[in-house]
This record gives sequence, structure tokens and C-alpha cells, in this order.
Amino acid sequence: MCGIVGYIGDRNSVPLLVEGLKRLEYRGYDSAGVTVLEDGHLETRKTAGKITALEKLLGNGEAPHGSVGIAHTRWATHGPPNTQNAHPHTDCTGEIAVAHNGIIENAGVLRTKLESLGHRFASETDTEVVAHLIEEAWDGKLEDAVRAALRQVEGAFGLAIMSSRDPGTLVAARKGSPLLIGIGRDGEYYIASDVAAVLAQTRQVVYLDDGEMAVLTRDGYETFKLDGRSVDKEVREIEWDLEAIEKGGFEHFMLKEIVEQPETLRNTMRGRLLDEEGTAKLGGVTISPAELKSIQRIIITGCGTSWHAGLLGGYMLEELARLPAEVEYASEFRYRNPVVDENTLVIAISQSGETADTLAAMREARRRGARVMGIVNVVGSTIARESDFGIYLHAGPEIGVASTKAFTSQVVALALFTLLLGRLRNLSVLQGREIVAALRRLPEQVEQVLGLNDSIREIARTYKSAPNFLYLGRGYNFPTALEGALKLKEISYIHAEGLPAAEMKHGPIALIDENMPVVVIAPNDNVYSKITSNVQEVKARGGRIIAVVTEGNLELDGMVDHLIPIPATIDPLTPVLATVPLQLLAYHVAVMRGCNVDMPRNLAKSVTVE
Ligand code: AGP
Ligand code: GLU
Repeated sequence: MCGIVGYIGDRNSVPLLVEGLKRLEYRGYDSAGVTVLEDGHLETRKTAGKITALEKLLGNGEAPHGSVGIAHTRWATHGPPNTQNAHPHTDCTGEIAVAHNGIIENAGVLRTKLESLGHRFASETDTEVVAHLIEEAWDGKLEDAVRAALRQVEGAFGLAIMSSRDPGTLVAARKGSPLLIGIGRDGEYYIASDVAAVLAQTRQVVYLDDGEMAVLTRDGYETFKLDGRSVDKEVREIEWDLEAIEKGGFEHFMLKEIVEQPETLRNTMRGRLLDEEGTAKLGGVTISPAELKSIQRIIITGCGTSWHAGLLGGYMLEELARLPAEVEYASEFRYRNPVVDENTLVIAISQSGETADTLAAMREARRRGARVMGIVNVVGSTIARESDFGIYLHAGPEIGVASTKAFTSQVVALALFTLLLGRLRNLSVLQGREIVAALRRLPEQVEQVLGLNDSIREIARTYKSAPNFLYLGRGYNFPTALEGALKLKEISYIHAEGLPAAEMKHGPIALIDENMPVVVIAPNDNVYSKITSNVQEVKARGGRIIAVVTEGNLELDGMVDHLIPIPATIDPLTPVLATVPLQLLAYHVAVMRGCNVDMPRNLAKSVTVE
């Protein structure tokens, strides 16, 4: 998620590490820190806030001095973004320091075990267990202890590790989070989570693959599999400039974030699916099963895209957990006189966790005695802090103003919660397993949908000058229609409306003529046959139809102008697959119209005013 930099060489590491961190600033961060080997012992400086706060701390005559060091910018997943939880983290002796990106899934179990062995923890992070595991496994050599420690770790990590007990060595290890080695001047080597961090010093890098580690000394570096077998890695020459790297080589953050979705969905589900039991394990849902069972009614609230995810959540909870669920715009809910009591669960959904309307709605609900669950991306944000319990998305920082990866992660988080509640109520283990299996397939299926990018760009070219668009869907894909229309209007400034397909005949059908592109979301779900009639209605009036259908379904071929095939999945998850092409369509139209995709006019990423 956030950034790692490490240095070993003959210069003072601190300025190089801080410079590297600054290059990673664009990814979003909440705290930063450095550890340096000074006169044989480790010195750590860390602080909540921006990198300038760390610089200030280091500027106060506080900067340690030494030619081996590691540094980190954090984007919290476990524990609030404060100074104590900032990385690097150390073991009990302060002789081993670790900077980590990613999530250690079994941190809870490992922590309990380590505490029973007498280890004392100084932070709430999942990361700190790694430092203590290495301390526990120490047998004279850092790389061996790291290897032994990582054998016990489940989850995702990019790690930079150092120790005063093995002072001339830096160790890097990777599984699931990006990591590379930079080859500097003579006798200088770097570790980085992103090439941007080392670009000012070198263009020569070695990318580690999953399940690999590297040992760096001033004399060179060696690369291994995590089990110790040695591997040869190619040195690559970086040709990108800094701006291109920040966007991962993409032209816009929005496109980068659309393409990241297979990975962000994996992160949302990581460690949370129980295949055998056909349910979900949600560490942040800290109320007892009995209390969960006492919930009699659910109200879901949010704004914009988060509200669309909420609509989907409402359908899922009603169908699969058999609970009455209402979904309300936060801005409306806060001024109603809602009937809620202690058996009502209010779910507040927000990417940023700072949206003023959502926060006010949630406070109102709490005032009236409801329990509040947050579904939030930004750890430690206000909504996350004020919720009674919650689910983090773990989708990483979303920078494009138009929400994309947060939406698909919100839908998946809601599916996980539905599974949990459903299995406590009336969902059978077989039904649960079917949902778990469909969730597991989802990241790869999204990857497949991303492969349609070129054909979607062509569709965008055909309709880029249209003044209006309609989006139609039914059932689970009515919210998809709303989300598709919102993406298009936000970034291309084309007027677009999302409608329940059957409502069209009650009025909006008057708008249809040969100049009106109509996007129909029609996967093979339980309302498919109904929506085909709506397609006929549009066709009969000359509308131009772009249909999102399940692959292999050719029934609409010939009747519609463009087919966008998506893989088959269970009904509640079709919106995840159907939204991705609509994100791409909006993106390409906006680019072709010369719009500022990442920062559309009049909009802000986080709406903290009423
Ligand atoms: C989405 O593309 C929008 N920019 C906007 O509707 C957004 O979803 C809304 O403001 C809610 O934001 P939140 O998820 O951070 O609360
Ligand atoms: N899971 C770790 C934490 O919460 C690392 C987060 C990151 O990738 O920045 O501290």
C-alpha cells in the first residue's frame, strides 16, 4: 500500500531515505519514520502526519547519522495512524527494525503466541509481529532469522529489515506487495516499494517477484526464494520519468485505479473467506454472533458512489440474510425523523471516511440508539473512528476523484458481511460455499473484463459527442446503471441518467431517438428475460444500444449495436463485473473530450461540507 525505502552504502542514509519517501508521497500516507544504524545501535525517528513533519523532527538536531537505514510511509490497515503505529517497528531489544507494506493476516494469532512467550508489543500494527518473530528465531544471522520468521507469516508483505546484530546487512522480502532493489553507485544499494523512490539515484533496478527475498551488503546483493534457494534476477533499466511512474505508467490515476481492481479486490477479501464453512471472517466486526443475530433491521447510508454500493448491499442483505434493509442518502437520512432502536444496525459507507453528510447521518443514528458499522477505505478516518465496529476495504489510496476501485471493494465488503449474517441466520452451508467460490473467482474475472479495454475505447469513440446517455438495469444491476451514469457525468460532463429499465416506459422513453445512446446492463440473471423486452422497446424507437451481457449469450446480437461480454457469476456479484466496462467507457469518453479526468471541474475527492 504505502512506501518503503532502504539504503546501504557509504553515505549518510538519512537524506537519501527522506528524499525517497518524498517521491512516494503521491500515494497518500498518514505517518512516516526512519531507522538508522548509528554507532552500532539502531536509532528510530517517526511521527504521525506528513513527511514534512518527519523532516521537522529530523531537523531539530534530532537526525541520527549512519550509512545503513530503512524508512517507511504508512497507509494504516491495523491500528490508527498515530506516531506509535508508524513504522519502522522494532523487537523487544530494539535491535531489529522492520518496515512493512501489506497485511499480515494471522497477526492476531502470532501476537498472542509471542506475548505468551514474554514479548512486549509497542504498537497496534500487524507489522510488529514480524520484528518479534525475527527476535525469537535469531540464530546469529539476519537473513536466516527472517526466513524462519516468514515461514510463520500468512498474508501480504513487502519488507525491509535491518539489525544492529548483523550491521552490514539489509534484508528485503516480498509476497503480494511490490518491492525492488536499486543498484546505486559503487557499493550502494537500495530497497524500494516503487521505482519512484530511487529514481533520483539510479535507473538500474531488480524487481523481486512474489516469494522472493534479497540480502544486501556493501559488496553486493543476492536474491533467493523465501525457502533459501538462490535465484538469478535480471537487472532492468528504467526508462520512465517520475510523473509516469507515479501513475504506474498510466496516463491518469483513474485508469491506474480501474486496472488495479483485480488486486484491490484480492486485498479486500484477503484472509476473510472461509471456504469450508461457507462464510466470512471479519476481524473488525467486533460484536458477538449473538448480538449480530439480534439485529432486526438494517439501514444503509452513504453518498454518491458509496450510496450505490449501499443499494447493492441492501438487495444482498434482504435476499441472502433475509433482513429488512433500507438504503437512504445520508443527506436525506440526517434530516428525517428515522425510526431506529438498539436492534437496528446502521451501515455507513464511505471511501474517504470524512464525508460530512455520511458522518452526520451516522451520528444521528447513534444518538437514537442504533449500532453503527462503518465500511470505510481510509483507516483511522473520522467515520472509522466513530463507528462501533466496521470493515476496512484495504483498497489502497484512491486518488482519482471519480471513485472506481473503492466501489468494487465496497460491494465485495458488503457481500462478505451478508455472508457472515446470512450464515448466522438462514443461509445454508452450500449456499455460503457457492458465494465464497464466486468471490474467489472475481479478481480473475475482472482481469478478463479489463481485456476489453480496446473494444470499449472504440465504442467511446462512436459516442463521444452524444449530449445525453441513458443507462438501464434491473434488480442488482439497477445500481450498476446509476453508477455507470454517475461516472460518465462526473468526468465527461455528458448528461446521463441511470434508470430501472422498466420505469422507462413510464416517461423517459419519450427521450429516445436515434441520437440517444442507451447502455443496457443485461447479464444472465433472474431478470434477464424481463430486460430483453426493455431492449426491444428502445430498439423500436431507434435508440442506439450498448449491451453488457454474459459471455456466450448471443441472443441480443443483431438487436443491439454493441455487445460487451462479461464472465458469468452469481447474481449479486454481476454488478462488480458489469461496472468495470462502464468505468472504462466513461474514462475513454472523457479523455476523448479533453476533460480533466482525475480532477473534474466543480468536484472534490472528499466532500467535508454539507
Ligand atoms: C464518486 O465518483 C464521487 N466522486 C462521489 O459521489 C463520492 O462517492 C461521494 O462523495 C462519497 O464519498 P465517500 O465515499 O468518500 O464518502
Ligand atoms: N499493515 C501495516 C500497518 O497497518 C502496513 C500498512 C502499509 O502498507 O502502509 O501498519
